[in-house]
Amino acid sequence: MSEEIVVIEGDGIGQEVIPAAVEVLDVVAETSDAVDPFEYVEADAGDAVAAETGEALPEETYELAANADATLFGAAGETAADVILPLREAVSSFVNVRPARAYPGVDAVRPETDVVFLRENTEGVYAGHEDRLSEDLSTLTRVVTGSASRRLAEYACEFVADGRGPDHRDGFTVAHKANVMRETDGRFREEVLAVAEEHGVEADEELMDAFATKLPLDPSQYGVVVCPNLAGDVLSDLAAGLVGGLGLLPSANVGADNGLFEPVHGSAPDIAGEGIANPTAAILSAAMLLEHLGYTADADRVRASVESVLADGPRTGDLGGAASTTEMTDAIVDGL
Ligand code: NAI
Ligand code: MG
Repeated sequence: MSEEIVVIEGDGIGQEVIPAAVEVLDVVAETSDAVDPFEYVEADAGDAVAAETGEALPEETYELAANADATLFGAAGETAADVILPLREAVSSFVNVRPARAYPGVDAVRPETDVVFLRENTEGVYAGHEDRLSEDLSTLTRVVTGSASRRLAEYACEFVADGRGPDHRDGFTVAHKANVMRETDGRFREEVLAVAEEHGVEADEELMDAFATKLPLDPSQYGVVVCPNLAGDVLSDLAAGLVGGLGLLPSANVGADNGLFEPVHGSAPDIAGEGIANPTAAILSAAMLLEHLGYTADADRVRASVESVLADGPRTGDLGGAASTTEMTDAIVDGL
């Protein structure tokens, strides 16, 4: 059976790193008994299509993403928020999976960092209603449901049970601020810990501010970290800073039936068009896509090849090398 993947390059270096990721997917399909060649459907989103049509995310792209097995997205420029938030909704994603891992051969603030954030992707302050009520007063309502908290926790339990978390830590940590936000984070915390207990999964907890201190001091204590939406956004960016470089970080927005896979970085207008963008984040996003479709061994194969190229080169300029996007991609492809 051949899966349908919607491919949205978007703006800037999205047009350079997504073709690299697609090339990797093609070679994976060629060299794997498990994976049939994918069927790609190209779609537009971002600044360029907004300039042409007035819409950063055309209805057609939304529908394609909503109905595909998976979507691979590069980046948008100024219109990023108008593209990403609806795209995440199109794939009904309830969790944002953000691994932050340091690699041998890459300069990192904390080379021992290997954490995966599972961030609630539909609620919290980002789903709240915000108002500017008067000259002086603005308010925001925060939304937390037991059902979304449980769904995230179920995913986290499956994730650790499947051995997808880092090897150095069992179970997961839930980061929250339930001591202050008792009704919202309090509910989140209770539900997540209850689901962990039901599944016999070891779960510990941290107040998110204390976590923000402890993570950079000693990242090795943490593996899988489950967070509410805003906390997950901020803390995963903090972890990204520990591993050295936006060009390395993939992400997955996972829904019940499909998913949206994207590098964490943006369109990088400062280097776009020069052919020097690091393709790693996009290629690791493609590995997450493979894993989501059930091709775990092939996802591991891609990661192993990326890891060996990061260690021995060729590497792009952001990693201190002099290779082009194509040269680095070719090396990763050769490793497959
Ligand atoms: P950015 O991630 O595009 O770039 C930040 C810095 O990191 C730049 O110096 C860039 O050259 C470098 N960089 C990023 N990815 C790289 C890669 N793969 N290889 C080598 N170097 C890389 O973030 P910035 O500059 O804040 O935003 C630029 C544009 O991207 C803005 O218009 C912003 O709205 C958009 N953006 C889009 C996102 C998305 O579509 N998911 C996410 C973040 C920003
Ligand atoms: Mg962010």
